[in-house]
Amino acid sequence: MSKVLVIKAHPFNGDKSRTIKTLDTFLETYQAKNPDDEIESLDLFATNFPELDGSMMAAWGQLANGTAFTDLPADVQKVMGQFNDALAQFKAADKLVIANPMWNLSIPAQLKSWIDAITVVGETFRYTATGHVALLPEKPFVHIQAAGGKYEGQDLGTQYVQAALEYLGAKRFAKIGVEGMDHFPDQADQIVAAAQEEAKTVASKF
Ligand SMILES: Cc1cc2nc3c(=O)[nH]c(=O)nc-3n(C[C@H](O)[C@H](O)[C@H](O)COP(=O)(O)O)c2cc1C
Repeated sequence: MSKVLVIKAHPFNGDKSRTIKTLDTFLETYQAKNPDDEIESLDLFATNFPELDGSMMAAWGQLANGTAFTDLPADVQKVMGQFNDALAQFKAADKLVIANPMWNLSIPAQLKSWIDAITVVGETFRYTATGHVALLPEKPFVHIQAAGGKYEGQDLGTQYVQAALEYLGAKRFAKIGVEGMDHFPDQADQIVAAAQEEAKTVASKF
């Protein structure tokens, strides 16, 4: 039995979002094929996933200097707790599915914040004299991203998500792009349908 972690980086559901529509198709197929697997979702918008800011960085310094977690201000404990929970959840997962729209040539800020939460020296990577070492075994991940234009993997979001996850030892299994609906609105339905078919194929092999 595998534990699959789904990172939902979109504020809408499949009725409004082509990213999430494709994700839903992926998960339906995956669950049907792997009924015993546990699928856990983290909805970055619904949970108001926090960003790395000055108070959190200052608190890291305090913890390193011996301050107890419970002596940190309550609001800092809350956001740091979300970061810590995300890290533990990521480490415990056997496989990952990340779904986000392209926004302004990049990923939503909340997804960047989640990547900040899981990229922790000593936990998911470490530094050595000869460079960095990824600490996680090869966790396969699937990246689903919708974009208004066509990029075919040559966009910053796709390349960043792959680089950031592989930095920690994860390994991209597939990228499913739902691309071109805004540039070719008359083809939008076919583009989404084709992405859903691709999602079924990838899910049945994942
Ligand atoms: C705030 C915002 C920024 C966007 N920026 C881009 C962009 O830089 N390039 C692009 O091709 N499409 C861009 N789009 C279009 C979306 O990527 C496209 O509509 C995609 O389908 C969004 O995913 P969704 O259908 O899951 O919401 C943007 C859309 C929004 C709302």
